[in-house]
Amino acid sequence: MGGGGKGSHAIIASSLDPIPTAGRRFTGGRGLFITFEGPEGSGKSTQLLSLAARLRQQGWAVLETAEPGGTPIGLQIRRVLLDAKNRELRPTTELLLMFAARAQNVDQWILPALSDGQIVLCDRFTDSTLVYQGVGRGLGSEVVYELDRIACRGLAPDLTLVIDIDAETGLERAKLRNREENAIETRMEDQEAAFHARVREAYRRLAEDEPERVRLIEGDRPIKVVAEAVWAQVEPLLARRASP
Ligand SMILES: Nc1ncnc2c1ncn2[C@@H]1O[C@H](COP(=O)(O)OP(=O)(O)O)[C@@H](O)[C@H]1O
Ligand SMILES: [Mg+2]
Repeated sequence: MGGGGKGSHAIIASSLDPIPTAGRRFTGGRGLFITFEGPEGSGKSTQLLSLAARLRQQGWAVLETAEPGGTPIGLQIRRVLLDAKNRELRPTTELLLMFAARAQNVDQWILPALSDGQIVLCDRFTDSTLVYQGVGRGLGSEVVYELDRIACRGLAPDLTLVIDIDAETGLERAKLRNREENAIETRMEDQEAAFHARVREAYRRLAEDEPERVRLIEGDRPIKVVAEAVWAQVEPLLARRASP
């Protein structure tokens, strides 16, 4: 994601460690990187779980991960980001912490799994930062692309599934879930309605801007129906790869 700058990107990455950095070549022949996006309560985690199970049933090796978080270090950063107590967290701090967790996830888990030919399913990725911090918080997309180049080393998803749902329905679901799970990670859900409306709009624009990579899935349907819509997007990508 993000335009140009591969040259400078390579210089930044080469000073870090020996992971290959050029474009997506390092994902190898069979690795596949799929991200789930969408507002709170749209059903990302539900669908990711279901897709992972279906892929494993067919014999594919799958890595499930989530952002912010994933790795143990990422999970520590996640606590700072999502704890509803952290009201004084500034937008720039939020942005940098998101990418700090992502850099750790990319280096420690995602790139090694892709190099190993696995299918990586990630619950949120840079598109979330673009939509929530870039648009929602008004930090702009350029700074997000810039940090993406540093943190993700040119890695971009092969397929991004945006589960689309109106903000109200999504938030209702999320609130119900949070009550059931006694969740304290509600800082994003607690944002004002206008913020969530901007988020949904930004996701829809993303799907229009990048129709090849980003697919919109209508999320206000029964879980199984949504799962079939997800599968319809994933299956053609599997067919292009060696069997599991
Ligand atoms: N298609 C659906 N219809 C009704 N409820 C759903 C659907 N998908 C998920 N849910 C429920 O809504 C809540 C939020 O789903 P979840 O997958 O956690 O969303 P997200 O990860 O996008 O925040 C959960 O309690 C889940 O069981
Ligand atoms: Mg979730």
